[in-house]
Amino acid sequence: MPPVIEMRNITKTFPGVAANSNISITLEEGEIHALLGENGAGKTTLMGVLFGLHRPDSGSVYIRGEKRRIAGPPDAAALGIGMVHQHFKLVPAFTVTENIMLGTKRFLLNTKKAAADIAALSARHGLGVDPHAKIEAVSVGMQQRVEILKMLHRNADILIFDEPTAVLTPQETAELMKIMRSLISQGKSIIFITHKLHEIKAVADRCTVLRAGKVSGTVNVADTSAEQMAEMMVGRKVSLNVVKPPPREGQPVFAAQNITVWGARRETAVRQASFEVREGEILGLAGVDGNGQSELAEALAGLRKIHSGSLTLRGKDITRASVKKRMRQGLAHIPEDRGKRGLILDFSLADNLALALYDRPPFSRHGLRDFNQINLYAQKIISDFDVRAASGGQTSARAMSGGNRQKAVVGREMERKPAVLIAVQPTRGLDVGSIEYIHKRLLALREDGCAILLVSLDLDEILELSDRVAVISRGRIAGVLGAAEADKNTVGLMMAGAGKGAEVT
Ligand SMILES: Nc1ncnc2c1ncn2[C@@H]1O[C@H](COP(=O)(O)OP(=O)(O)O)[C@@H](O)[C@H]1O
Ligand SMILES: [Mg+2]
Repeated sequence: MPPVIEMRNITKTFPGVAANSNISITLEEGEIHALLGENGAGKTTLMGVLFGLHRPDSGSVYIRGEKRRIAGPPDAAALGIGMVHQHFKLVPAFTVTENIMLGTKRFLLNTKKAAADIAALSARHGLGVDPHAKIEAVSVGMQQRVEILKMLHRNADILIFDEPTAVLTPQETAELMKIMRSLISQGKSIIFITHKLHEIKAVADRCTVLRAGKVSGTVNVADTSAEQMAEMMVGRKVSLNVVKPPPREGQPVFAAQNITVWGARRETAVRQASFEVREGEILGLAGVDGNGQSELAEALAGLRKIHSGSLTLRGKDITRASVKKRMRQGLAHIPEDRGKRGLILDFSLADNLALALYDRPPFSRHGLRDFNQINLYAQKIISDFDVRAASGGQTSARAMSGGNRQKAVVGREMERKPAVLIAVQPTRGLDVGSIEYIHKRLLALREDGCAILLVSLDLDEILELSDRVAVISRGRIAGVLGAAEADKNTVGLMMAGAGKGAEVT
């Protein structure tokens, strides 16, 4: 039998980027085929070609042995191809049924019957979706199931999942794996995009690895170790395990007491949060995206007002202190939005790297800046953190890529040897090599006695690095766990809103 999908020698370039170079991949009937690759490797582009969102420069697509031209998503849908995108395409104010019927010919017709059909479909696949629920009222995990239902309702039997687990808690991820297996048992075939190796190990039959737009290989998952796949992804040996010396019993240096913070729409984003970070420890802040962690981090850094409560750094109250004042007291911050807040885009890279130290010796004496000192200092960060910029320190920050801007900000904040570091998603979107290096540097800072608050959506990263883990859920600190009790299951349940020690039924 021919494969359900064969993509042959697909090449797709965007201005200046070879997103896909001569990629060939097959999906067999009844298989879960993982597509693995670092950010920017070309996974979404390849699936965009299959789904009719991109027209390839060259190459062809065969569906069940027949060459097909897929000019747009309707063509793909007609061929039985469905896709759950990285960012869902649902209308928040509409119900599940309305969202699923939207765009079909029968929209507005007989919604009662449609709802009943959807309920039946949901039951058949064990999805547990309420057809009458409004999208804005259901969890992200549930929204994803609505997207799955949408594909099934259109009779798709080739299902593409683009990084579906990035937005899920560990429990939701486990549920999704079950759903994927059940879909396979009902005759579907699946392409599963991820960059998490353990997920591939858990669920996939074969795995195609992309690196910089090219296939670095296709393997049978059962015969291949996670380390081997990581190596194919990065192009060199990587150590997947972090070695961490035991924590010291440090004094609290950074303490939040009953902090309440408002969000962009004046809603209460963080409610009465209390925690402390001790000298020489990494406190991880775990949570599903959108549960107040961004607002909390901004408030701690001085970028957002603390509505009530208090914040102290080495015993000094900094609740109302300016960003600059906090910096002077030894607070460093790797912000989430590195494009806007991390760097001053009109400045050179070197000036950005010396930003916080600008007006003091050795960078400035008697009001005169010493460009040699600034450049030397910048050069060290540039080489240590592998920041790639066309004209070195003289490159305008605006001309740098996102990943390199990020490494620059991380390097600058770490190099300052702060007393407290708030690191928000310090490795998001970086390649495995840079992640490895940043993790090492975080641990080195910890050894030097820095108190680190690590905010990350990547629970694996949090569990690997943290000495203790605080979990934030709907703006509240649901609990703070010691490393011994902070396992994936416990933290995951707390992220989903169950309190510490709550029973799940
Ligand atoms: N619409 C686009 N226009 C220009 N460049 C793009 C576009 N989509 C993706 N790219 C570039 O193509 C490369 C591959 O991106 P993508 O397929 O999204 O990777 P992945 O999904 O593996 O993270 C990246 O360098 C990205 O910046
Ligand atoms: Mg992608």
